[in-house]
Amino acid sequence: PSLPLDLIAAIQDLKRELNAVILAHYYQDPAIQDVADYIGDSLGLSRQAASTNADVIVFAGVHFMAETAKILNPDKLVLLPDLAAGCSLADSCPADAFAAFKAQYPNHLVISYINCTAEIKALSDIICTSSNAVKIVQQLPAEQPLIFAPDRNLGRYVMAQTGRQMVLWEGSCIVHETFSERRILELKATYPTAQVIAHPECEEAVLRHADFIGSTTALLNYSQRQDHDTFIVVTEPGILHQMQRRNPEKTFIPAPPQDQTCNCNECPFMRLNTLEKLYLCMRDRQPQIELPEDIRLAALKPIQRMLEMS
Ligand code: 13P
Ligand code: SF4
Repeated sequence: PSLPLDLIAAIQDLKRELNAVILAHYYQDPAIQDVADYIGDSLGLSRQAASTNADVIVFAGVHFMAETAKILNPDKLVLLPDLAAGCSLADSCPADAFAAFKAQYPNHLVISYINCTAEIKALSDIICTSSNAVKIVQQLPAEQPLIFAPDRNLGRYVMAQTGRQMVLWEGSCIVHETFSERRILELKATYPTAQVIAHPECEEAVLRHADFIGSTTALLNYSQRQDHDTFIVVTEPGILHQMQRRNPEKTFIPAPPQDQTCNCNECPFMRLNTLEKLYLCMRDRQPQIELPEDIRLAALKPIQRMLEMS
């Protein structure tokens, strides 16, 4: 059958019919954010997934996020509009290579950023997100040696904030590594009173120029501070939709990619989801997230530990 003319109304109807909740990450297309029941960062979305009483979770985000929702809710149907919505950071840490890496450090505790596959979570002791990584590492005994995976940039940032040494897995996000120190300095020269606000997945050379560093939710909260009216936003520009909505009178400048001929500051995986695919996945009850029960149970433990510690 062809698509309904009013996709938004059709999505709302399906939501009632399925008793579904739509969870969306801030990097989703504004049209998707506008139909979501809850918009958040990775931690907020995990908390919503852990506490929802809906029968169906429609995850407008990337695969590892929907997978986390399924790990927390084995009996619920978890739908992802496009199964190809992956993550370069998750891809940069294959399970077999990580298992061999981990074996070199037998007495280390493994803290993994939530941007990883269920297999990596199953090999981890604690999961963290960009909003609780520092807080979680600070709670671990000082003498406990640590491995941090898969994001080297977040890992370095956490080391600087906590003064702890950690063994890092050398993974990264293609979106956050597209920002360059040179372009940030050019923008700062053009907007001398602007606050530079950046996500900790950016490289150290970029973070050095930030007035504030935080998860997408933390950046959004910072944008509401009374004392500033212009912001250079160094993360995926999907977040500008909520910033602009909460602060209609303020100016938000998305940091451009190093290569200005592409729009590679947009996450190509997040942007695979569209309103049409959102409707279709609800209509067809697929693609669904499924995973082996042994991996799910092993991945659940470090996620629960994160939820308890943050
Ligand atoms: P947060 O949702 O923790 O801000 O992380 C951003 C991100 O890259 C999600 O893929
Ligand atoms: Fe992964 Fe980066 Fe996209 Fe986030 S922005 S989903 S870390 S590729």
